[in-house]
Amino acid sequence: MSAPVLTARGVTKRYAKRPDLIDRGLVATGLKPPGDIVRAVNGVDLDILPAEIVGIVGESGCGKSTLGRLLVGLEAPDEGRITFDGAPVRAGGGPAHLAVQMVFQDAAATLNPRRRVGSQLVEAPVAHGLVDRSDAPAFVADLLRRVGLEAEAAARYPHQFSGGQRQRLNIARALAVAPRLIVCDEAVASLDLSVQAQILNLLLDLRDREGLAIAFISHDLAVVHRIADRVAVLYLGQVVETGRADAVFDASRHPYTQALVVNRLSLDGRLDRLSVLPGEPPSPVSIPPGCLFHPRCPKAVPACAAAAPERHPPAADHWATCNRQDA
Ligand SMILES: Nc1ncnc2c1ncn2[C@@H]1O[C@H](COP(=O)(O)OP(=O)(O)OP(=O)(O)O)[C@@H](O)[C@H]1O
Ligand SMILES: [Mg+2]
Repeated sequence: MSAPVLTARGVTKRYAKRPDLIDRGLVATGLKPPGDIVRAVNGVDLDILPAEIVGIVGESGCGKSTLGRLLVGLEAPDEGRITFDGAPVRAGGGPAHLAVQMVFQDAAATLNPRRRVGSQLVEAPVAHGLVDRSDAPAFVADLLRRVGLEAEAAARYPHQFSGGQRQRLNIARALAVAPRLIVCDEAVASLDLSVQAQILNLLLDLRDREGLAIAFISHDLAVVHRIADRVAVLYLGQVVETGRADAVFDASRHPYTQALVVNRLSLDGRLDRLSVLPGEPPSPVSIPPGCLFHPRCPKAVPACAAAAPERHPPAADHWATCNRQDA
């Protein structure tokens, strides 16, 4: 097995909670002290191998986007470390700076509507000395071809493309600086199903042809099942299960993953309406003691509230943090 391109160990990110109306009321009336802390990502370990697609899944608010921003160095962890090829991934620079790029959901927001796409695509590679300005037309034509667009597209403006084509441009923009890993955050979430399938095929092609590694963040279990080699399931900022995608989806070990898999059928692939799970939706402000999932878990026993579960089975490549797997 080859060495991972990216390694995260014990990565934790906390934020001061953005106060909502209820918070403001409670603080103003003295019922609550100010300064709630959100544990968005809480001790995550993750390896991504070359040419591997790792799916990161979980409900809204479980920390997927925060983890994505940490992996590309847009933010720095409060604890733990992230390395790319052994070098630290740092917010705002370092050797891993270009090697890890992000692709967001909203392609329109990352492209300037007033400028032709060709000049936008070549800007970063020229600025970083990867491409000579005199080679720009050939560079852009090749980049467009790699994402399945015609060379003529370079002369057009972003609004002259469909949503799917704009997402191809967004991927091209990330590829322009020759990354070895891209982090896709809900990159197909706003596309029609048939266009989604085309973009997923493009990502699979880039993995196969160019050896690109991909961290693929998504709500949508069906999409992740289709594209990912391995999966990490996040709950309240922690990885609760990880393994080969087939193993995690077909032989889930954690009751949370099992609930996601069962519900996906009736929820049209969306995980943001997990109201069928018992108990309160989780809050990353008040993390429960013991197993994070025990307040909602159908298998929970009193011991689950007392101590945090270990990874089980230990040292396996498919594990879950649940002591009641065989119950
Ligand atoms: N800059 C920030 N300041 C304060 N809280 C934040 C910040 N960014 C994220 N959070 C909080 O951290 C938690 C995780 O958020 P995150 O956006 O990473 O979740 P997510 O899994 O990507 O959710 P979604 O599926 O809705 O995109 C949430 O409770 C969120 O409100
Ligand atoms: Mg998100």
